[in-house]
Amino acid sequence: MGRTKKSRGKNRGKQRKRQTQASLADKHELYQRAVQEPEADLLLARKIFRTHFGRPPLIMREDFCGTALTACEWVRMGANNRAFGIDLDPDPLEWGRVHNLEKLNEEQQSRVELIEGDVMSTHHEQVDMTLAFNFSYFIFHERATLLEYFRMARASLRPEGLFLMDVYGGSGAQTTSEDDPRDCDGFDYIWDQYRFDPIQCNAVNHIHFEFPDGSRMKRAFTYDWRLWSIPEICDVLRDAGFSQTEVYWEGTDQDTDEGNGIFTLRKSAIDDPAWVAYVAAIP
Ligand SMILES: C[S@@+](CC[C@H](N)C(=O)[O-])C[C@H]1O[C@@H](n2cnc3c(N)ncnc32)[C@H](O)[C@@H]1O
Repeated sequence: MGRTKKSRGKNRGKQRKRQTQASLADKHELYQRAVQEPEADLLLARKIFRTHFGRPPLIMREDFCGTALTACEWVRMGANNRAFGIDLDPDPLEWGRVHNLEKLNEEQQSRVELIEGDVMSTHHEQVDMTLAFNFSYFIFHERATLLEYFRMARASLRPEGLFLMDVYGGSGAQTTSEDDPRDCDGFDYIWDQYRFDPIQCNAVNHIHFEFPDGSRMKRAFTYDWRLWSIPEICDVLRDAGFSQTEVYWEGTDQDTDEGNGIFTLRKSAIDDPAWVAYVAAIP
């Protein structure tokens, strides 16, 4: 009896602890809502593939897949589409299994394979497209390591294949600064360029989330990246054996002067303090 009373008292104490919106929020859900646009990424990838090979791609590999939102979207987009998702970290993979994969019907689920593994050493059947989004390959700081990864990406592809990655830059990327909060319908997303070292081209960035009750999920995600330039990336891709590289550059919305989400093949571009682009490589 005494023990029961004591434990009840303990629980009441715990309940009194203030529950903030930040303490109740799920960082993977916030990340997906604030950062990812899998449909737009996949439509661009499919269009580039079709331009090169005159047919739609079917099998894709999502490197650094995290919660595998893109892999799951891919199988939803086409009845014959299949996807592999690869990530080192079991935590986002498990979250993705529960919240993304299990939202698909059984037949769709059977076309996705999630692999807990290193993109440097994970082998499976060759695919039409390998995708590396949200700058994940920037974790490779040394040219030799980036080259090794690009060689692996090339080996993952069929002869008719596409390796597509995104890249960001501009003078604004090479500063320490915290962006203004961006409203994401129920919470704010904050991109914090915490440190930039111009000698190493090393950027340490955090993502924070803020809530209407004033609470903050600080450093929900942290990235320690080498800021690779487009010519460096294309050089390394060539050294890895890719025969062709292309850059897809974002157009500008005339009213807002912001990016318009439309990426087209370009050979050169005018100066922009904060740009995002895609680099495509063909074996
Ligand atoms: C920036 S998140 C990308 C999440 C998602 N792909 C996206 O587009 O937003 C980077 C992910 O890469 C994973 N990662 C880092 N190094 C890796 C490696 N060598 N092999 C596989 N996954 C790796 C991390 O665990 C993390 O989930």
